[in-house]
Amino acid sequence: MRKTSVYLPDSLKKRLAAFAEHNGVSEAELIREAIEQRLDGTQDERRPTDPPVPGRLVGVGVGPGPADLLTTRALAALRRADRVIAPCTSIEAIGRAEAIVREAAPDVAIERMVFVMQPDHDARSAALVDVCDRIAGYLEDGDEIAFITLGDPNIYSTVSSVVAGVVARRPETEVDTVAGIMAFQALAMAGEVVLTDEQQTLVLLPASAPSETIDAELAMPERTVILYKGGGRIAAVADQVESAGRLDDAVMGELIGMPGERIARVADIRDRPASYLSVVISPAPEGTGPVPQPLAEASHTSAGSAQRSGAEQ
Ligand SMILES: C[S@@+](CC[C@H](N)C(=O)[O-])C[C@H]1O[C@@H](n2cnc3c(N)ncnc32)[C@H](O)[C@@H]1O
Repeated sequence: MRKTSVYLPDSLKKRLAAFAEHNGVSEAELIREAIEQRLDGTQDERRPTDPPVPGRLVGVGVGPGPADLLTTRALAALRRADRVIAPCTSIEAIGRAEAIVREAAPDVAIERMVFVMQPDHDARSAALVDVCDRIAGYLEDGDEIAFITLGDPNIYSTVSSVVAGVVARRPETEVDTVAGIMAFQALAMAGEVVLTDEQQTLVLLPASAPSETIDAELAMPERTVILYKGGGRIAAVADQVESAGRLDDAVMGELIGMPGERIARVADIRDRPASYLSVVISPAPEGTGPVPQPLAEASHTSAGSAQRSGAEQ
């Protein structure tokens, strides 16, 4: 009988044993540390990570640029993975996500995989096929793979096409994502923009969306509108924002947290070239929004408790 059997449930004992083995420390040492930290109210920042899960693919958001906007969970996922894969445009070129990880965690070894960004459909597909084949092979060998991406892995990210391609080849693949801070959040911080207040609403869309779609969003006074992928069409974006009477408050963040960063009013840079890595925020001009609805009788209990817990935060 292990000594830990006295106090710990079976599931916790199993996790403890796996954790201790993976990190090369004794179970007794881990228990002693945990008790000490609890009693002292301290947290050991060097604490070891959970073991990797063989055959798991994790899309890891590394934030928009600044190394200190990479979350501790992302850092743990990178250190835990057997392989960390970064997208790049050529094997000699360091991608943006890789640059962030290099700064935040120089100890993490990165493997590059080439993606084609130009609108040549066949070349793009061929590159994606190659990436998915290779990742599926690593997973089959029992590796946990972390695939890094700028910002968040569930917002306009290569992660979704990689996951789809890998799962098509290997349906048993366990897939996970680690959220990342997004460029518009970093811009709101840098530009001191409140994104929503009271009942205001927020929409994120590509600047390449049909102009009627963007105009309709801008026409709603309670709507904050965020435009991604608009660097190449900043003049057109400025015209749209101006037509909606929103030019004065619209801000643009370009290369946020990276060399060449520019945070400016759209009005001041509308006639200048901007990079693909640009985001525009047009804050809602009015504080009002949809009128709050009374809770439906049937959902009263659960919605009520959700509201209470929100108020307690
Ligand atoms: C392919 S999407 C990637 C979005 C990313 N997954 C996210 O969650 O922010 C590329 C767009 O993200 C925005 N973006 C990402 N990082 C940025 C940065 N550091 N500075 C400005 N815009 C950025 C730009 O609008 C760019 O056109």
